[in-house]
Amino acid sequence: MIEARSITKFFSVVNEKGLAEGLTAVLNVSLTIPDGKIVTLLGPSGCGKSTFLEILAGLQAPTDGEIRIDGRRVLEPLPSTRKETEAYKRRYRFISPLANGVFRDHPKHDIAMIFQDYAVFPWMTAIQNVNFALKLRNAGRRGLSRAERNERARFCLAQVGLGEVENKYPSQLSGGMRQRLALARALSVEPRIILMDEPFAAVDALTREKLQDDLLKIWAEKQQEAVPLIIVMVTHDVAEAVYLSDEVVVFSPGPGSIRNRIPVPLKRPRPRTDPALMEIQDRIFSLFQYDLNQESEYSI
Ligand SMILES: Nc1ncnc2c1ncn2[C@@H]1O[C@H](COP(=O)(O)OP(=O)(O)OP(=O)(O)O)[C@@H](O)[C@H]1O
Ligand SMILES: [Mg+2]
Repeated sequence: MIEARSITKFFSVVNEKGLAEGLTAVLNVSLTIPDGKIVTLLGPSGCGKSTFLEILAGLQAPTDGEIRIDGRRVLEPLPSTRKETEAYKRRYRFISPLANGVFRDHPKHDIAMIFQDYAVFPWMTAIQNVNFALKLRNAGRRGLSRAERNERARFCLAQVGLGEVENKYPSQLSGGMRQRLALARALSVEPRIILMDEPFAAVDALTREKLQDDLLKIWAEKQQEAVPLIIVMVTHDVAEAVYLSDEVVVFSPGPGSIRNRIPVPLKRPRPRTDPALMEIQDRIFSLFQYDLNQESEYSI
């Protein structure tokens, strides 16, 4: 289970006059995601979705609040008062502040993150990309042998339908194939949680639907395991959010916070044209429409 408790993220930015000013990217977001669920984060640009996802992953520390995964804290919040800063420095005096990642209690390979753009390394072939993730996971402990890694990498590539192109470089693959490769790499480390930041935004509509179905298939296979896979995905696409999720979390900007949580209590597989799906989509569209109307009222 993922628990986000009152997450707030504050950035200091320099404005056009050269003055420092504060920006609250995420304000007081609490969210519990049970095992085996697919949850999407939906909302307009700049409402803190990526920031929140990175905090879930332990890639950024929250300014306030905490993330717990299976009850264990992912990363502690950065100090905000002078007293906290002193205590923080004392505690971590042997560790570079840049190495914030080491402050987590939880091993990071349990969480795999897929970014939108630079999800794979262009200078490595498909199989080298997957192998690299396995190597990283092995670092510092007794892990798989080279042969075992190769075998596992091949298995993961085959799982996402890339068995035939293992020796190609990302530039030789289509956009959809590159996203599959990113997925294979994420799956290779057998994560407990997959976090995806607009993973299918750059592919055409048909490829996107195929990728969504593949993702659901892989997720369904992982539901038999002792701790079933959780997927948290950021998307701009309402149809995608409703089709995939058990719950759609709608964010609103200024400052980024949860506007609504919309459960999708429909059995899978879901026909894409299911009227019940459409009804939920319409509800979400009307939420956005309502916000736009409010804005235009204010601006008059
Ligand atoms: N490192 C940073 N320093 C300063 N401000 C930041 C930083 N990262 C994000 N922000 C600001 O925080 C806000 C939320 O950004 P974030 O990237 O989380 O939005 P988003 O919802 O993912 O948007 P999009 O849908 O466009 O990807 C934005 O106003 C952004 O400018
Ligand atoms: Mg983003």
